[in-house]
Formats: sequence, structure tokens, C-alpha cells
Amino acid sequence: MAIERTLSIIKPDATKRNLTGKINAKFEEAGLRVIAQKRIHLSKAQAGVFYEVHAERPFYDELCDFMASEPVVVQVLEGEGAILKNREVMGATNPAEAAPGTIRAEFAESVGENSVHGSDAPETAAVEISYFFAGLELVG
Ligand code: CMP
Repeated sequence: MAIERTLSIIKPDATKRNLTGKINAKFEEAGLRVIAQKRIHLSKAQAGVFYEVHAERPFYDELCDFMASEPVVVQVLEGEGAILKNREVMGATNPAEAAPGTIRAEFAESVGENSVHGSDAPETAAVEISYFFAGLELVG
């Protein structure tokens, strides 16, 4: 399988509870490498652009408020089949449906406050990585 890069966000519910290290340990145990990482505090407008694909969904406004409520850690993960592997490590969007041992099963608080985001396909990964990082910041 090819080496891929994917965009990950450790969300406000997790940074607030000081879970960045525990979540990164899950990625590293799965063979994913953190090749770029920074802690930022998004504005609601910046969160809104990132989640524009969900603009028509009923939870969009709540989602943007949440993502701007506390700092987030944005990161690029690299590894074999990184996009799918990261989604497996994260678990289902709704923590009630997430498999045991996944990040969302262990840490997420609700479907909205679900601790992590991960890109869902190669095309979205490229767009999402470029939203937060310049090429020189990716150190594989
Ligand atoms: P994420 O993987 O970041 O992609 C979109 C996000 O929208 C998702 O995780 C959830 O945080 C959020 N989301 C999805 N469904 C709902 C919902 N029914 N209510 C609130 N937030 C949701």
C-alpha cells in the first residue's frame, strides 16, 4: 500500500482535557508518524471555511462554535494507507458506535464533541493539509 498523508485535528473537547499526548500515542502505536503539528485557536470564520462542505447541515453553526471554543491541534499524519488507517484509529463519528480501543470510543463525549477529525479521501486530505500547512512545514 502507498505511503499517504492525512490531515488530523485534535478537537477542543480533547485539548481542554489535556489529551493531546494520549491521542498521539494511539496514532504512533498504529504506525502513523506525526510529520507536522501545531496548536492554534481557530476563529469561527476559519472553522466555517474548513467545514464548508457541511454548511447546509443543521449542526453546522454548532460545529463552528465548538471548533472555535478552545485551541485545536492540527497535524499531518504519514504512513502506509494513512487516510484509512487514521479513520480506523479514530473510530466511528458517533462514539456510541465506535469500536473498542479507538480514540472516539475512549475519549469522545458526543457525536459533535468527538475529539478528532481525519480526512476522508486523498483529494480532501490534500485540500485540508494545504489549508493549515505550507509545504516546508511537512517534515517526513
Ligand atoms: P468530523 O469528522 O470532524 O466531520 C464533521 C463533523 O461534524 C463531525 O466530525 C462531527 O464533529 C460533526 N457532526 C456530525 N454529525 C453531527 C451531528 N448530528 N450533530 C453535531 N455534530 C455533528
